[in-house]
Formats: sequence, structure tokens, C-alpha cells
Amino acid sequence: MKEVRIGLIGTGFMGKAHASAFKNVPLIFGNEPGRPVLEIVADIDADAVQKWAAEFGFARSTTNWREVVEDPNVDIVDITTPNYMHAEMAIAAAEAGKHIYCEKPLALTSADAARIVAAAEKSGVTTIVGFNYLKNPAQAFAQQLIAEGELGEITLFRGMFDQDFLADADVPFSWRLDRKLAGTGALGDLGSHTIGLAQFLVGNIVEVCGMNSTIIKERAVPAGGSGYAATVQEGAAMRAVENEDITECLIRFENGAIGTVGTSRVGMGRKLGLGYEIQGTKGGLFYTQERMNELKLYRDTDPDREKGYKTVYIGPEHRGYKAFFGLAGIGLGYNDQKIIEAHDLITAVALGQPVQPDVRFAYEVDKVIDAIDLSCEERRWVKVSEFDTEVD
Ligand SMILES: NC(=O)c1ccc[n+]([C@@H]2O[C@H](COP(=O)([O-])OP(=O)(O)OC[C@H]3O[C@@H](n4cnc5c(N)ncnc54)[C@H](O)[C@@H]3O)[C@@H](O)[C@H]2O)c1
Repeated sequence: MKEVRIGLIGTGFMGKAHASAFKNVPLIFGNEPGRPVLEIVADIDADAVQKWAAEFGFARSTTNWREVVEDPNVDIVDITTPNYMHAEMAIAAAEAGKHIYCEKPLALTSADAARIVAAAEKSGVTTIVGFNYLKNPAQAFAQQLIAEGELGEITLFRGMFDQDFLADADVPFSWRLDRKLAGTGALGDLGSHTIGLAQFLVGNIVEVCGMNSTIIKERAVPAGGSGYAATVQEGAAMRAVENEDITECLIRFENGAIGTVGTSRVGMGRKLGLGYEIQGTKGGLFYTQERMNELKLYRDTDPDREKGYKTVYIGPEHRGYKAFFGLAGIGLGYNDQKIIEAHDLITAVALGQPVQPDVRFAYEVDKVIDAIDLSCEERRWVKVSEFDTEVD
């Protein structure tokens, strides 16, 4: 058993999800081939980070993220800060020879993502990006069904990710609404997951035509807190929202399939409305994250009197599930996806292997985001290859 030492940057919503995932990896999967050790954590408030470190069991804490990157006792630098910091932190980590666990979207632009890919590939470190929904055992199964030809040629992908956490106009401004800190709005924050699923399951998207809309044009400046936890006082100043609430987009895949991706952060009633329908010449798949332990499968080879979508219950036959339960139907939750993600990374680092989805996968997602963003701005079809960056 090899100890794999973690240096975490950021103690917000995702910092907590990552830290608890690492703590759970040995409990769920056992200690082999690697056991995560919570070595050091960084955030900007000295008292808060010290307290947080003690609660989660990190040996040390700091307010300077560079100490994490430079720490000789750190094997993996885990980046859970707002989007605009990812590139600088990930490149510094790669240059220090550290493996990288970074949240999505990988960077503010695909050009910055390409710089991360170049630095990581040059130093030969293992990388993974937090597309945790791909770690749901249902998605490995969906990918397997498609690869085995069960659906025939894929003709259509319709994907979505809607949430309503910003539907209330009284929710204050936060970094997610600041173009310089977040990049795009719903598209990068939520849509990146849908684009990741589309490319994981169907293949690369080559052409896009999008449109977007900002529904709530200004929000109150927060008094404190960060991200989803921001709070506001009465009479606070208002600030203009700098990126979109909704994006809808037509897409064309390299393999000829067509479809749509749509995303909203003001999607009233949608709590975790990530999902897709995939149609092929021999069958179809339907998935919604709100029922993440089920996959709907249609096979046209079924006898006519039995034709229809059937519900497959995700269970020990599907990659990643068995470590949790020996029976289908009990079901995994959001944080279990993160445990599988953290486990895949720890295993890869312990064995000196690559793992997916890596920074190159995330760069391909960022190119599609850039293409959709440009398409919305210029009101035209955009080829994703317009955002090819030479990675060297
Ligand atoms: N994979 C997912 O399902 C998922 C879900 C939510 C967020 N995310 C991603 O995770 C990242 C963080 O999002 P969040 O919701 O956790 O945000 P958050 O605002 O809750 O947390 C960000 C944390 O980073 C800290 N931070 C800011 N600057 C720092 C610095 N210089 N050094 C150290 N720490 C610093 C903040 O103090 C805060 O604790 C984003 O990239 C976001 O897109 C992914």
C-alpha cells in the first residue's frame, strides 16, 4: 500500500466534497493500491482554514496556496477554487511535479486549458478533472452499451443541465456571475458537465450554433460568504450580472450524429436536472441525474409485443458500484461519484498510470464552451476547431 498525500486548495462547497471523498476512499474501496493522506489545506482566511483543517483531519493548513504546491510532502495538488485560479495553480503544480486534481471547468478559456495540458504532459504527472457525473456507474454502462453497438449508429444526443439555484432574484451576486472570475455562466458551470457526457458517450462535437440569455440582470452585492453560501444585507448595492443564465445550442458530432445541449441556472423546478436522451439506429438511452440509479434502455430487437423503454437498475454489475453495495436498488448519491473519482485518481497515482477524464479531455470540453460562447455572441455556426491550440 502506497500513501498518496493530498494538498487541497479551497474549502468551499467542492473542497468539502473532495476532502470527504478522500476520507471515504479507504472505507469504501480499502487501502490498496493507495491510501490517501490529508497532508495540507489552503484557503484565504487563517482562522477558518485552521479550524476546517482540524475538523477534516488535515495535518496542516496555510493561507498561501503556493505552500501546498511547493510542499515536498504533497503528491497531489487538489484545486477547488473559483475557475479563474485553476490555470495558474494547475500549471504551478505540474511544474513542481505534482499530480493534479482540478475542478471543472478546467480554465476560463480553452487556450488556458491548453497551457495546463502542455505543462502536465511535459512533466508527465497524472491528472483528473472533476466531471464527477461521468463516475456514476450508469455512465460507464451507457458508454459500454454504445461501444458494443447495442444502440447501432448514434443519430441524436439531446443533453441538458438545469438547476434553479439562481432563479430567485434575491440570491446575491457571487463569483459565478463575474465574467473575469467564472468565464461563461451556466454554460461553463453546468453545461460543461453535459458537454463532457456528450463527448464521453457519443464522441467529439465539431460544430455548434447557440443562443443565450441573462434573465436576472443585476443582483445585490453580498455581505459575506462565498459561492452558494453568499449572504446579503438589506439595502445592499446592486451589481450587473456579467454572464448568461441560460444557453441553448445545436451541436454536430464528428461521427455525424446531431443534437442539442441546453443549460440553465434559473431553471425553475430543476434541482439537479442533468440528463440526456441518446437515439441510435437500433436503440435508445434516456437518463436523468434526478434518478441517478436508473438508466432507461430501449432495444429495437425486443419482440414487438414487448417493445418499450425498460428501466435498468444500477448495481454491482456496473463499474464502481460493487464497492458500496452488493445489491442493486440501494443506490448511490452525488458524493459517491466523488468517492469513485477520488479512488480512480489515488489508484492511478499509486500505480503510476494515467486516468480519465484528464486535462486533455477537459481541454476538449473547454473548446466546445468557447465555440458556443462565440456562436452566441456572433449569432452564427462556429467550428470547434476554431479553438484548436497547439499544445507543446
Ligand atoms: N464537479 C461539480 O459537481 C462541481 C460543483 C460545484 C462547483 N464545482 C467547481 O468547483 C470550483 C469551486 O466551486 P465552489 O462551489 O466550491 O466554490 P466556493 O466559492 O464554495 O469555494 C471556493 C473556495 O476557494 C477559496 N479560495 C478563493 N481564493 C483562494 C486562494 N487564493 N487560495 C485558497 N483558497 C481560495 C474560497 O475562500 C472558498 O473557500 C469551481 O471551479 C466550480 O466550477 C464543481
